[in-house]
Amino acid sequence: LKPLLYVTRTLPQVAQKRLEALTEVEVKQWTGSGTIPSDELNKAVNSADGLLCMLTEKIDSALISSAGKQLKVISTMSVGYDHIDVQAAKDRQIALGYTPDVLTDATADLTALLALSAARRAKEAIDAVRDGKWQKWDPTWLLGSQFTGKTLGMVGLGRIGSAVASRLKPFGFSRVLYHGSQPRPERAEPFNAQFTSFDGLLSESDVICICCSLNEKTRHMFNKEAFKKMKSTAILVNTARGPIVQQDDLVWALNEREIAAVGTDVTDPEPIDPKHPLVGHSRAIVFPHIGSATEETRNLMANMAIDNALAGILGKDLKAPIK
Ligand code: GLV
Ligand code: GLV
Repeated sequence: LKPLLYVTRTLPQVAQKRLEALTEVEVKQWTGSGTIPSDELNKAVNSADGLLCMLTEKIDSALISSAGKQLKVISTMSVGYDHIDVQAAKDRQIALGYTPDVLTDATADLTALLALSAARRAKEAIDAVRDGKWQKWDPTWLLGSQFTGKTLGMVGLGRIGSAVASRLKPFGFSRVLYHGSQPRPERAEPFNAQFTSFDGLLSESDVICICCSLNEKTRHMFNKEAFKKMKSTAILVNTARGPIVQQDDLVWALNEREIAAVGTDVTDPEPIDPKHPLVGHSRAIVFPHIGSATEETRNLMANMAIDNALAGILGKDLKAPIK
């Protein structure tokens, strides 16, 4: 009997073909529309030797403790793993895998896109053309801000954060500040980035990019108190996780002009209600969590997730283990 690999979604085409051709394991897969229902996920961990999941699955301690003894590995097709109770999996000696590095460029590209789009009021510009509000060229119309001589503030200077800084710095920022759980001299060096307190970062940055993981320290880090400390001209970009920002406080900050604009690829919850005031706000650009969504990157992520799952099932070291 071959070990069973359960996959919670249809994978991008190239990786899906590979999955279907695997011979060392039997593959079962949720191919229904949308995310896997929780009763199906429960059934899966009861019989599978390996689980390949998405960030949409809640892998909490209840699910992990209900898993059968045969479950050896949980491999998530994501770099973030705030949806997994890591300690619960460790306690059960279930190996955990994730997909760092392969999505760094795609996510950093999207972060730069949101920063520029928010600064140059892309949403208002597109809407104006669509709504027939474009008159003749006007010296005072749709004036945004530019990065020349400004200060970039990074919350998190990990793989993605430093890739964002290296993309944005050439747009003319004169200074890069960063805040995180610890100073990272080797990552800061290429931009001469200065490690700063959170308050210092808030008050001095013109553009703030959130590129850190969601945990109990970063949850609702951006709340009313934080927004009040930001420049009224500041731009906030979030391509990490929605709950790092208190979403209703963000709407308040936009309305009160505590900050100028936001570009976000993540919301709380996801999907956000289309009627939520953030969605319709003229100075908010909201993307549907597509940071890693390129053909190339999603196939690399899926392949890496397959590699991790196979290694775990066969009792080998994972390529990218969550430690
Ligand atoms: C996407 O958000 C990821 O964590 O991979
Ligand atoms: C985050 O997980 C990163 O890759 O920087």
